[in-house]
Amino acid sequence: MTTNPNAAGSYDFTALGDASGELERLQLQAQRSAQLELQLLERMGLADGQAVLDLACGPGVISRLIAQAHPKSRVTAMDLNGALLAAAREEAATAGLASIRFVQGDVYAPPLEQGQFDFIYARLLFQHLEQPLQALEAIRALLKPGGVLCIFDIDDSWLTLVPEPEGFATFTAAAARAQERRGGNRLIGRQLGRLLEESGYNPVDVHVETVTSRQLGMRAFLDITLGFKRLLLEGEELEAARATLESADALVDDPRAWAFVGVFLARGVRP
Ligand SMILES: C[S@@+](CC[C@H](N)C(=O)[O-])C[C@H]1O[C@@H](n2cnc3c(N)ncnc32)[C@H](O)[C@@H]1O
Repeated sequence: MTTNPNAAGSYDFTALGDASGELERLQLQAQRSAQLELQLLERMGLADGQAVLDLACGPGVISRLIAQAHPKSRVTAMDLNGALLAAAREEAATAGLASIRFVQGDVYAPPLEQGQFDFIYARLLFQHLEQPLQALEAIRALLKPGGVLCIFDIDDSWLTLVPEPEGFATFTAAAARAQERRGGNRLIGRQLGRLLEESGYNPVDVHVETVTSRQLGMRAFLDITLGFKRLLLEGEELEAARATLESADALVDDPRAWAFVGVFLARGVRP
């Protein structure tokens, strides 16, 4: 299915392996903020009755959320990874959501008819892409004129733990370097507006939503925000991170501790 030598960029689910707990982390990450996210998406133009693409759907939590909340919409869920897509398909069948169309495909060359979507959502995909501009161009062609692309992604500089565990900045910097070596970018959030404009979306707007440990619970917050970083590290860097991760885990038992992460929501319209 891969049409590009490094299509998966810094996210290769199969390489992470079943024992990594990554499927569960992805599900938790999407489920914990699902209702908040649905409201944000509706503010960005998602509405019932649309043709919607959940691009890089992973295990399909958001595809199901949209199909359930908007029963008149036609939801397509696409992902590069066959195992994730199979999990998404199975969950949708269990939930009785037979109308979601699942497609295996690469964002750089999507096997989908052009000009058909009113709303495309790309959640936590762009931080992994080696060629974001190329992806934005391929996505634009899938939208109807006036159709909306909404990107949800992170920027590590907006991740804060209070109190900050010793070595936290070193740990996040090591994870960012490891992701960059695989083609990704953990500072993608700040780039999204510029990239959308450069690839011809107009108008473009960007805002940052703060998600806190009070909303998610500290345990879930740490699992969601640190889990993938931990998987990226190996050897000496992982060894060096152990004490920092233990101090972070101790925040779960500290009722005065807080944590924040800024999630970037970028919206671009196909003129
Ligand atoms: C961090 S996961 C996010 C999954 C889902 N959007 C979510 O928020 O739960 C990144 C997803 O991007 C997919 N992906 C990576 N490169 C891709 C590509 N070139 N085309 C389509 N999907 C891709 C991965 O297979 C994975 O499912």
